[in-house]
Amino acid sequence: MAQVNGVNGHAGLAPSTAGAPSRVTLSLGHLPSKKDIKAPWPRTPTRVDPNNPPWPAYRGYHEYSFAHATMQSRLPTILGKAIEDTTRTLNEQSDEEKVVDLVACIERMAELMIDLSENRKLRPIIDDGEGDVALWNKEIAKYFQGKDFMNAPWLFAEAYKYRRLHECFSVSKFWKDYDVFYRQKCDTFSRSAEAVFELSMRFAEPFSLPDSLTPEEKLEAERNMFKELTQVCLWGNSTDLSLLINMTEEQIKSLQSTGGDHLAATEKNILGNHLTDLWDTVKEVRSKTGGRVDFVLDNAGFELYCDCVYADFLLQSGLATQIRFHGKRFAWFVSDVTRKDWNWLLNTMVYGQLFPKATDVELESLRRLGQRWKQYEKEGKWIYEQHPFWCTGYTFWDLHSEAPDLFLHLSRSDLVFFKGDLNHRKLTYDCAAPASTPFDVAIGSMASSAGAPKVASLRTIKSDVVVGLGDQGDEVAERLDKEEPGWKISGKYAVVLLSEGRPGEKVRFA
Ligand code: F6P
Ligand code: MG
Repeated sequence: MAQVNGVNGHAGLAPSTAGAPSRVTLSLGHLPSKKDIKAPWPRTPTRVDPNNPPWPAYRGYHEYSFAHATMQSRLPTILGKAIEDTTRTLNEQSDEEKVVDLVACIERMAELMIDLSENRKLRPIIDDGEGDVALWNKEIAKYFQGKDFMNAPWLFAEAYKYRRLHECFSVSKFWKDYDVFYRQKCDTFSRSAEAVFELSMRFAEPFSLPDSLTPEEKLEAERNMFKELTQVCLWGNSTDLSLLINMTEEQIKSLQSTGGDHLAATEKNILGNHLTDLWDTVKEVRSKTGGRVDFVLDNAGFELYCDCVYADFLLQSGLATQIRFHGKRFAWFVSDVTRKDWNWLLNTMVYGQLFPKATDVELESLRRLGQRWKQYEKEGKWIYEQHPFWCTGYTFWDLHSEAPDLFLHLSRSDLVFFKGDLNHRKLTYDCAAPASTPFDVAIGSMASSAGAPKVASLRTIKSDVVVGLGDQGDEVAERLDKEEPGWKISGKYAVVLLSEGRPGEKVRFA
């Protein structure tokens, strides 16, 4: 063997490399075997961020999840329908400038379709002059650089698609506020005639309980009404447009059935049920302040109508003195309420001619109800608001830090209702938390921050995340997984969950 000088000048033997493996692989056969260590979920709060929720995120490439079906097929279908709607509007135009402007909007939608179907990377939102651009682009830059529609968390990717859809119009000259879902939203209300009149015939006149009742009997009657109307408000959420695409009138009717027996039966489908605590809460609000209740709205049309019936009852029974409704600033997740939808509902109830088959009495009942609601608005008892934060990709775990003004505003409410599936996903960070996770743990800072209001989620289960099912919750979820595949997306089951929050404490920001 030749003698050479080593690297530091020392003489030594040159090692022979002949026959050496190209990569060293150690044999560890004599060491203890690997342990099955469970990941330490939930993540510690300092490690939680929009790309890393407290429990594993749902992402579009997870084939077992609704995220996959949505990103892969539902969103392209929804976008395709939006293009059809806009084309219809285009064909109705006469002014050349407007036509040309709208053609450009359709071209941008076609580009979005390509980005979506080719699973391209998420690019920043164009500066279209909207107040939310900085929030969107900050989140993309900090957490989603290089991410695409399929590997970004589902919640963000889905919200981003709706913001991009808005951008197709917001950069135009004449079509900034065009709502591609408006026609469909109006349609759901007109297709819900039976349930609409079922309620208007009962509530056209302000309700009163017979004088002959004792105070205890009155309270009991109110409690029963409260429970039934909370359910009306809850199940009104089961018929949102993004899922209605293939439903028949009959299926819609059965989902919207508001009969008493039906409601008693469907209470069994409320898998996490804090209705009793909710009743205690509103009673307490009445005895203390007779206070303010907020609704973070979900869908327009029939669901909004149910929300208003419920809000009307809360006012009339003195359980609230003011109601604030929070809607979206632009078309969002197909059916969500915008100011235009809000105005449309109240005006169509009073002046519209939507229900050709309705009797005069039914139409009159709807008109009176609408008039009363418009009067509430004039008197400031009902207030409609639309903070830009509701149309961002942030979950409500970040509401405190990203929209401190909104958090402060909500902290002054006696009870905040969050309606629907998307709001529930945002409350719970849309991640794979165990079904037994207590609701107030699942909603993070919306429960634990100083000044957090009482929060109630009324949600029919239409996507993967399920929490708040109690101690036996994991077993319940496992059984349903086995016996009823699809139970998480059918809208057949629901939750009514309440978090006590930390009301009254001084709100603090870092
Ligand atoms: O696209 C899925 C989704 O975002 C789910 O949250 C739900 O299935 C639907 O759209 C919206 O439901 P909701 O109107 O109740 O928020
Ligand atoms: Mg919705």
